Amino acid sequence: MGNEPLSRFSMDYFSLKGKTAIITGANMGLGMAYALAFAKAGADIYIPHFTDDVDEIKQLVEAEGRKAAFIQGDLTEPGSVQAVVAGCLKEYGKIDILVNNAGVSTFGEFEEYPDAQWKRCIELDLNVVYYLGHETAKVMIKQRSGKIINIGSALSYTADKKCPPYVAAKHGVIGLTRSFANELGAYNIQTNAICPGFLATEVNRELREDQAFYDKITNRIPAGRWGELDDLMGTAVFLASKASDYINGWNISIDGGFTTTL
Ligand SMILES: NC(=O)c1ccc[n+]([C@@H]2O[C@H](COP(=O)([O-])OP(=O)(O)OC[C@H]3O[C@@H](n4cnc5c(N)ncnc54)[C@H](O)[C@@H]3O)[C@@H](O)[C@H]2O)c1
Repeated sequence: MGNEPLSRFSMDYFSLKGKTAIITGANMGLGMAYALAFAKAGADIYIPHFTDDVDEIKQLVEAEGRKAAFIQGDLTEPGSVQAVVAGCLKEYGKIDILVNNAGVSTFGEFEEYPDAQWKRCIELDLNVVYYLGHETAKVMIKQRSGKIINIGSALSYTADKKCPPYVAAKHGVIGLTRSFANELGAYNIQTNAICPGFLATEVNRELREDQAFYDKITNRIPAGRWGELDDLMGTAVFLASKASDYINGWNISIDGGFTTTL
Protein backbone atom coordinates (compact mmCIF):
# COMPACT_ATOMS: atom_id res chain seq x y z
CA MET A 1 0.00 0.00 0.00
CA GLY A 2 1.42 3.37 -1.02
CA ASN A 3 1.04 6.71 0.63
CA GLU A 4 -1.88 7.79 -1.57
CA PRO A 5 -4.51 7.71 1.24
CA LEU A 6 -2.24 9.85 3.40
CA SER A 7 -1.82 12.53 0.77
CA ARG A 8 -5.53 12.31 -0.16
CA PHE A 9 -6.67 13.33 3.31
CA SER A 10 -7.34 17.00 4.00
CA MET A 11 -9.55 19.02 6.32
CA ASP A 12 -11.99 19.21 3.36
CA TYR A 13 -13.12 15.76 4.55
CA PHE A 14 -15.04 17.63 7.27
CA SER A 15 -16.67 20.09 4.86
CA LEU A 16 -20.36 19.92 3.88
CA LYS A 17 -19.92 22.36 0.99
CA GLY A 18 -22.60 21.81 -1.67
CA LYS A 19 -24.52 19.32 0.51
CA THR A 20 -28.25 19.33 1.24
CA ALA A 21 -29.60 18.25 4.62
CA ILE A 22 -33.09 17.47 5.90
CA ILE A 23 -33.24 18.04 9.66
CA THR A 24 -36.64 17.40 11.24
CA GLY A 25 -37.79 19.85 13.91
CA ALA A 26 -34.72 22.05 13.42
CA ASN A 27 -36.62 25.29 13.99
CA MET A 28 -36.04 24.87 17.74
CA GLY A 29 -34.10 23.01 20.43
CA LEU A 30 -31.24 20.66 19.59
CA GLY A 31 -32.21 20.54 15.91
CA MET A 32 -31.28 24.21 15.54
CA ALA A 33 -27.74 23.38 16.59
CA TYR A 34 -27.40 20.68 13.91
CA ALA A 35 -28.85 23.04 11.28
CA LEU A 36 -26.53 25.91 12.15
CA ALA A 37 -23.50 23.60 12.34
CA PHE A 38 -24.29 22.16 8.90
CA ALA A 39 -24.81 25.65 7.45
CA LYS A 40 -21.45 26.77 8.87
CA ALA A 41 -19.91 23.69 7.21
CA GLY A 42 -21.45 24.71 3.86
CA ALA A 43 -24.78 22.84 3.58
CA ASP A 44 -28.23 24.07 2.55
CA ILE A 45 -30.97 23.01 4.94
CA TYR A 46 -34.51 21.68 4.54
CA ILE A 47 -36.57 21.81 7.72
CA PRO A 48 -39.82 19.93 8.31
CA HIS A 49 -41.34 21.84 11.23
CA PHE A 50 -44.39 21.33 13.43
CA THR A 51 -44.63 24.69 15.18
CA ASP A 52 -44.72 28.08 13.42
CA ASP A 53 -41.50 29.67 14.69
CA VAL A 54 -39.00 29.49 11.79
CA ASP A 55 -37.63 33.06 11.71
CA GLU A 56 -34.64 32.52 14.02
CA ILE A 57 -33.24 29.45 12.27
CA LYS A 58 -33.87 31.01 8.85
CA GLN A 59 -31.84 34.07 9.89
CA LEU A 60 -29.05 31.95 11.40
CA VAL A 61 -28.69 29.74 8.30
CA GLU A 62 -28.89 32.66 5.86
CA ALA A 63 -26.31 34.61 7.87
CA GLU A 64 -23.90 31.79 6.94
CA GLY A 65 -24.70 32.39 3.26
CA ARG A 66 -26.68 29.14 3.02
CA LYS A 67 -30.31 28.44 2.10
CA ALA A 68 -33.05 27.36 4.50
CA ALA A 69 -36.31 25.94 3.12
CA PHE A 70 -39.27 24.72 5.11
CA ILE A 71 -42.27 22.40 5.08
CA GLN A 72 -44.82 22.49 7.87
CA GLY A 73 -46.81 19.55 9.17
CA ASP A 74 -47.26 16.71 11.63
CA LEU A 75 -44.76 14.01 10.66
CA THR A 76 -47.06 11.32 12.06
CA GLU A 77 -49.79 12.15 9.53
CA PRO A 78 -50.12 9.77 6.56
CA GLY A 79 -48.24 11.01 3.49
CA SER A 80 -46.11 13.49 5.42
CA VAL A 81 -42.72 11.75 5.05
CA GLN A 82 -43.34 11.41 1.30
CA ALA A 83 -44.13 15.14 1.19
CA VAL A 84 -40.87 15.95 3.00
CA VAL A 85 -38.74 13.93 0.60
CA ALA A 86 -40.56 15.28 -2.47
CA GLY A 87 -40.32 18.83 -1.10
CA CYS A 88 -36.56 18.62 -0.52
CA LEU A 89 -36.01 17.16 -3.99
CA LYS A 90 -38.11 19.93 -5.54
CA GLU A 91 -36.15 22.57 -3.63
CA TYR A 92 -32.60 21.24 -3.98
CA GLY A 93 -32.70 18.26 -6.39
CA LYS A 94 -30.96 15.84 -3.98
CA ILE A 95 -30.73 14.72 -0.36
CA ASP A 96 -27.24 14.18 1.01
CA ILE A 97 -28.01 14.10 4.73
CA LEU A 98 -31.02 13.25 6.89
CA VAL A 99 -31.16 13.98 10.61
CA ASN A 100 -34.13 12.32 12.31
CA ASN A 101 -34.31 14.81 15.17
CA ALA A 102 -38.02 15.50 15.86
CA GLY A 103 -39.20 13.76 18.99
CA VAL A 104 -41.44 13.99 22.02
CA SER A 105 -40.93 12.72 25.54
CA THR A 106 -44.02 12.08 27.64
CA PHE A 107 -44.11 11.29 31.34
CA GLY A 108 -46.75 9.63 33.49
CA GLU A 109 -47.34 7.31 36.42
CA PHE A 110 -46.80 3.73 35.27
CA GLU A 111 -50.14 2.25 36.37
CA GLU A 112 -52.16 5.03 34.75
CA TYR A 113 -49.88 5.56 31.75
CA PRO A 114 -52.27 6.62 28.94
CA ASP A 115 -52.33 4.48 25.80
CA ALA A 116 -52.63 7.64 23.71
CA GLN A 117 -49.26 8.90 25.02
CA TRP A 118 -47.63 5.53 24.36
CA LYS A 119 -48.89 5.58 20.77
CA ARG A 120 -47.94 9.23 20.13
CA CYS A 121 -44.39 8.81 21.39
CA ILE A 122 -43.73 5.50 19.60
CA GLU A 123 -45.22 6.93 16.40
CA LEU A 124 -42.95 10.01 16.27
CA ASP A 125 -39.81 8.81 18.07
CA LEU A 126 -39.58 5.38 16.42
CA ASN A 127 -42.01 4.87 13.52
CA VAL A 128 -41.30 8.21 11.83
CA VAL A 129 -37.55 7.57 12.17
CA TYR A 130 -38.12 4.37 10.18
CA TYR A 131 -40.60 5.81 7.65
CA LEU A 132 -38.62 8.97 6.84
CA GLY A 133 -35.33 7.06 6.82
CA HIS A 134 -36.84 4.47 4.49
CA GLU A 135 -38.31 7.06 2.11
CA THR A 136 -35.07 9.06 2.06
CA ALA A 137 -32.98 5.94 1.56
CA LYS A 138 -34.76 5.26 -1.74
CA VAL A 139 -33.37 8.57 -3.03
CA MET A 140 -29.92 8.00 -1.51
CA ILE A 141 -29.72 4.50 -3.07
CA LYS A 142 -30.23 6.07 -6.51
CA GLN A 143 -27.59 8.70 -5.66
CA ARG A 144 -25.24 5.99 -4.37
CA SER A 145 -24.42 8.20 -1.40
CA GLY A 146 -25.94 9.57 1.77
CA LYS A 147 -25.70 10.07 5.51
CA ILE A 148 -28.51 9.27 7.93
CA ILE A 149 -28.14 10.44 11.51
CA ASN A 150 -30.75 9.25 13.99
CA ILE A 151 -31.14 10.93 17.35
CA GLY A 152 -31.20 8.61 20.33
CA SER A 153 -30.73 9.54 23.97
CA ALA A 154 -29.03 8.44 27.17
CA LEU A 155 -32.29 6.49 27.45
CA SER A 156 -31.19 4.46 24.40
CA TYR A 157 -28.93 2.62 26.90
CA THR A 158 -30.61 3.17 30.25
CA ALA A 159 -34.16 3.45 31.55
CA ASP A 160 -35.97 5.64 34.01
CA LYS A 161 -39.42 5.70 35.57
CA LYS A 162 -42.48 7.38 34.02
CA CYS A 163 -41.45 7.29 30.34
CA PRO A 164 -41.83 3.73 28.98
CA PRO A 165 -42.50 4.64 25.33
CA TYR A 166 -39.57 7.09 25.17
CA VAL A 167 -37.19 4.44 26.53
CA ALA A 168 -38.58 1.82 24.11
CA ALA A 169 -38.46 4.19 21.13
CA LYS A 170 -34.93 5.42 21.85
CA HIS A 171 -33.66 1.83 22.33
CA GLY A 172 -35.40 1.05 19.03
CA VAL A 173 -33.57 3.91 17.30
CA ILE A 174 -30.29 2.09 17.99
CA GLY A 175 -31.67 -1.10 16.41
CA LEU A 176 -32.96 0.80 13.40
CA THR A 177 -29.56 2.50 13.00
CA ARG A 178 -27.81 -0.88 12.88
CA SER A 179 -30.44 -2.31 10.56
CA PHE A 180 -30.15 0.61 8.11
CA ALA A 181 -26.34 0.32 8.22
CA ASN A 182 -26.66 -3.31 7.12
CA GLU A 183 -29.21 -2.56 4.40
CA LEU A 184 -27.55 0.55 2.97
CA GLY A 185 -23.81 0.19 3.48
CA ALA A 186 -23.28 -1.25 0.02
CA TYR A 187 -24.74 1.93 -1.51
CA ASN A 188 -22.21 4.21 0.20
CA ILE A 189 -24.86 5.33 2.69
CA GLN A 190 -23.82 5.51 6.33
CA THR A 191 -26.36 5.44 9.15
CA ASN A 192 -25.24 6.41 12.64
CA ALA A 193 -26.84 7.80 15.78
CA ILE A 194 -26.11 10.63 18.15
CA CYS A 195 -27.24 10.00 21.72
CA PRO A 196 -27.36 13.29 23.61
CA GLY A 197 -27.25 13.08 27.38
CA PHE A 198 -28.62 15.84 29.56
CA LEU A 199 -28.50 19.06 27.57
CA ALA A 200 -29.49 22.26 29.31
CA THR A 201 -32.22 23.44 26.94
CA GLU A 202 -35.62 25.10 27.16
CA VAL A 203 -37.39 21.74 27.00
CA ASN A 204 -36.02 20.60 30.38
CA ARG A 205 -35.93 23.94 32.20
CA GLU A 206 -38.55 22.72 34.70
CA LEU A 207 -36.64 19.50 35.36
CA ARG A 208 -33.49 21.51 36.08
CA GLU A 209 -35.41 23.70 38.50
CA ASP A 210 -36.11 20.57 40.60
CA GLN A 211 -32.94 20.85 42.71
CA ALA A 212 -32.95 17.20 43.88
CA PHE A 213 -33.25 15.91 40.30
CA TYR A 214 -30.70 18.43 39.01
CA ASP A 215 -28.17 17.40 41.67
CA LYS A 216 -28.80 13.66 41.12
CA ILE A 217 -28.08 14.00 37.39
CA THR A 218 -25.20 16.45 37.67
CA ASN A 219 -23.43 14.29 40.25
CA ARG A 220 -23.61 11.34 37.84
CA ILE A 221 -22.05 13.20 34.92
CA PRO A 222 -18.25 12.72 34.99
CA ALA A 223 -17.86 16.08 33.21
CA GLY A 224 -19.66 17.63 36.19
CA ARG A 225 -21.99 19.73 34.04
CA TRP A 226 -24.98 19.47 31.72
CA GLY A 227 -24.28 19.71 27.99
CA GLU A 228 -24.63 22.83 25.84
CA LEU A 229 -25.79 23.02 22.22
CA ASP A 230 -22.26 23.56 20.91
CA ASP A 231 -21.23 20.26 22.50
CA LEU A 232 -23.34 18.54 19.81
CA MET A 233 -22.38 20.48 16.72
CA GLY A 234 -18.95 19.10 15.86
CA THR A 235 -20.06 15.47 16.14
CA ALA A 236 -23.07 16.15 13.92
CA VAL A 237 -20.86 17.68 11.21
CA PHE A 238 -18.41 14.79 11.52
CA LEU A 239 -21.13 12.15 11.06
CA ALA A 240 -22.55 14.08 8.09
CA SER A 241 -19.17 14.44 6.39
CA LYS A 242 -16.76 12.36 4.34
CA ALA A 243 -14.53 12.16 7.43
CA SER A 244 -16.88 9.47 8.81
CA ASP A 245 -17.35 7.43 5.60
CA TYR A 246 -16.09 4.21 7.20
CA ILE A 247 -18.24 4.54 10.34
CA ASN A 248 -21.56 2.76 9.91
CA GLY A 249 -24.20 1.57 12.37
CA TRP A 250 -22.66 3.19 15.45
CA ASN A 251 -23.88 5.52 18.15
CA ILE A 252 -21.96 8.41 19.64
CA SER A 253 -23.04 9.43 23.11
CA ILE A 254 -22.60 13.13 23.79
CA ASP A 255 -23.27 13.02 27.49
CA GLY A 256 -20.13 14.05 29.37
CA GLY A 257 -19.68 10.38 30.27
CA PHE A 258 -23.14 9.93 31.86
CA THR A 259 -23.85 6.49 30.40
CA THR A 260 -20.42 5.15 31.40
CA THR A 261 -21.11 5.43 35.13
CA LEU A 262 -22.97 3.29 37.65
N1 LIG B 1 -32.92 18.06 25.15
C1 LIG B 1 -32.23 17.01 25.58
O1 LIG B 1 -31.55 17.07 26.59
C2 LIG B 1 -32.26 15.70 24.80
C3 LIG B 1 -31.55 14.62 25.30
C4 LIG B 1 -31.55 13.43 24.58
C5 LIG B 1 -32.21 13.32 23.39
N2 LIG B 1 -32.92 14.39 22.92
C6 LIG B 1 -33.62 14.20 21.63
O2 LIG B 1 -33.27 15.26 20.76
C7 LIG B 1 -34.37 15.50 19.87
C8 LIG B 1 -34.75 16.97 19.93
O3 LIG B 1 -35.14 17.25 21.26
P1 LIG B 1 -35.22 18.75 21.85
O4 LIG B 1 -34.75 18.68 23.24
O5 LIG B 1 -34.59 19.69 20.91
O6 LIG B 1 -36.81 18.94 21.91
P2 LIG B 1 -37.74 20.06 21.26
O7 LIG B 1 -39.10 19.81 21.84
O8 LIG B 1 -37.13 21.40 21.41
O9 LIG B 1 -37.74 19.66 19.73
C9 LIG B 1 -38.49 18.60 19.23
C10 LIG B 1 -38.92 18.94 17.83
O10 LIG B 1 -39.85 17.93 17.36
C11 LIG B 1 -40.97 18.58 16.79
N3 LIG B 1 -42.18 17.78 16.82
C12 LIG B 1 -42.90 17.40 17.91
N4 LIG B 1 -43.98 16.70 17.53
C13 LIG B 1 -43.94 16.63 16.17
C14 LIG B 1 -44.77 16.04 15.18
N5 LIG B 1 -45.88 15.35 15.51
N6 LIG B 1 -44.44 16.18 13.88
C15 LIG B 1 -43.32 16.87 13.52
N7 LIG B 1 -42.48 17.42 14.41
C16 LIG B 1 -42.79 17.30 15.72
C17 LIG B 1 -41.12 19.84 17.62
O11 LIG B 1 -41.96 20.79 16.98
C18 LIG B 1 -39.66 20.27 17.74
O12 LIG B 1 -39.27 20.97 16.58
C19 LIG B 1 -35.49 14.57 20.28
O13 LIG B 1 -35.46 13.40 19.48
C20 LIG B 1 -35.12 14.22 21.72
O14 LIG B 1 -35.65 12.98 22.11
C21 LIG B 1 -32.97 15.58 23.59
